[in-house]
Amino acid sequence: MSKNFDVVVIGGGPGGYIAAIRAAQLGFNTACIDEWKNEKGGPAPGGTCTNVGCIPSKALLQSSEHYEHASHGFAEHGIEVKGLGLNLDKMLGRKNTVVKQNNDGILYLFKKNKVTFFHGRGSFVKGDANGYDIKVAGAAEETITAKHVIVATGSNARALPGVPFDEQLILSNTGALAITEVPKKLGVIGAGVIGLEMGSVWRRLGAEVTVLEALPAFLGAVDEQIAKEAQKLLAKQGLNVSLGVKIGEIKAGKKGVTVEYTDSKGDAQKGEFDKLIVSIGRTPNTIGLNAEGIGLKLDERGFIAVDGDCKTNLPNVWAVGDVVRGPMLAHKAEEEGVAVAERIAGQHGHVNFNTIPWVIYTSPEIAWVGKTEQQLKAEGVQYKAGTFPFLANGRARALGDTSGMVKFLADAKTDEILGVHIVGPMASELIAEAVVAMEFRASAEDIARICHAHPSLSEATKEAALAVDKRALNF
Ligand code: FAD
Ligand code: NAI
Repeated sequence: MSKNFDVVVIGGGPGGYIAAIRAAQLGFNTACIDEWKNEKGGPAPGGTCTNVGCIPSKALLQSSEHYEHASHGFAEHGIEVKGLGLNLDKMLGRKNTVVKQNNDGILYLFKKNKVTFFHGRGSFVKGDANGYDIKVAGAAEETITAKHVIVATGSNARALPGVPFDEQLILSNTGALAITEVPKKLGVIGAGVIGLEMGSVWRRLGAEVTVLEALPAFLGAVDEQIAKEAQKLLAKQGLNVSLGVKIGEIKAGKKGVTVEYTDSKGDAQKGEFDKLIVSIGRTPNTIGLNAEGIGLKLDERGFIAVDGDCKTNLPNVWAVGDVVRGPMLAHKAEEEGVAVAERIAGQHGHVNFNTIPWVIYTSPEIAWVGKTEQQLKAEGVQYKAGTFPFLANGRARALGDTSGMVKFLADAKTDEILGVHIVGPMASELIAEAVVAMEFRASAEDIARICHAHPSLSEATKEAALAVDKRALNF
């Protein structure tokens, strides 16, 4: 096997494995190094996303939603369920199977595209514009060479100072996805994406969940109207979220975890929990890369410093995904991976940061692309808004899921769509239309004039676009 490659990718998460496949498609002799191990010590490419992120969380969100429907939702459809039970072992087992299918899928894709896969840790030994020596420390140790290196080493969960994760009582996302008995009382610190998704999973399965959030506003980055609606809906389901808290001492004992905190009124509070999830953001992972040794520049927050094209300070060394600036999202990592491979090939790879969609997979889902109303106000942009509630959508009524709305924001003069925000059923799928529209710089009227299938949730998107011009038809 040749050990001299045109492109070596360090990290096999969505940023890395996609970059490797695209580089191979473009004709480069490509290798991808990933160190993630499955429970048997074997390779498990796919990174955080596949192993302890997007995929397992969505598997559990789906299973727990089925359970909740069976417990509370089926009755109104005239379906009577007797003797309903929860087999958590089986649910977790299914989640692990879904993860493994994805790991195996990536190994298959490497073979199909002739990407050489190395299982182990990659680190820089030496190099310059002519090429780099990369040490691979796996079952054996070897050194390979690369003309171009793409670093895609991802991120790790951030711990609270002095409160390390033990994954038994104090859980990061890894432990939160593998609790073997539904806790009676579950504490969550941080009402961000992980806090709300994992909080929803365990609440649906029967835990009493308390989410403690430092900021005074719920989902501050989300359009305020949508965030308020989501907060109301999640509270109605029984997810207790306390905003504006200040976390004090956290003690893990034999029986559980005690969290002392000050509430938004300044009163001292104490929470007693069986388990505590800490989801307060993630930090870039550059451990073991020998970044310092090779002179790879990090920024002040520890991310690999890159320019708009994902170029680092070292010639022919690129970095993509969670380890560089920008949103920590799998699809952002993938887009950067593709763009870098194309740039190496002399093409004009491009990532449009204005049209990266966000989805929070709560129920109902929250999804958005582009600017929020508060951002447009702050930027002094003149805009028009149109909203349409799912309550007035026939398909939503038939589904029995009429919560939430679609909201369009368009330029007051040109009618160009500036942002689309959804809280409601299948928002994760509906947002794709808005992304396409914004990518093609469509106007709200363009969407309003397009024929949407009836009855479908997407009619709510069309109606919200019509509402921008105050001419919604069904509301
Ligand atoms: P990673 O996926 O972190 O992959 C990096 C890989 O590099 C890992 O396999 C790691 O082992 C390996 N590695 C690191 N250093 C080395 C080295 N020196 N040598 C060899 N290998 C190395 N995003 C979404 O878009 N949608 C979601 O629904 C979503 N859900 C999430 C749920 C949770 C619970 C979490 C934690 C995250 C979620 N994310 C989601 C975020 C998403 O997982 C990340 O944005 C994405 O995984 C980043 O991809 P990456 O390739 O940059 O890094
Ligand atoms: P996050 O940034 O989404 O949320 C962290 C929350 O914790 C914030 O609201 C923050 O104000 C709060 N916080 C920070 N310090 C705190 C403290 N000391 N006390 C109380 N609250 C505190 O981060 P999270 O949820 O850990 O997720 C990490 C990233 O993973 C996300 O930003 C996202 O990029 C990605 N992700 C994406 C998902 C998706 O796309 N559906 C799902 C899950 C994660």
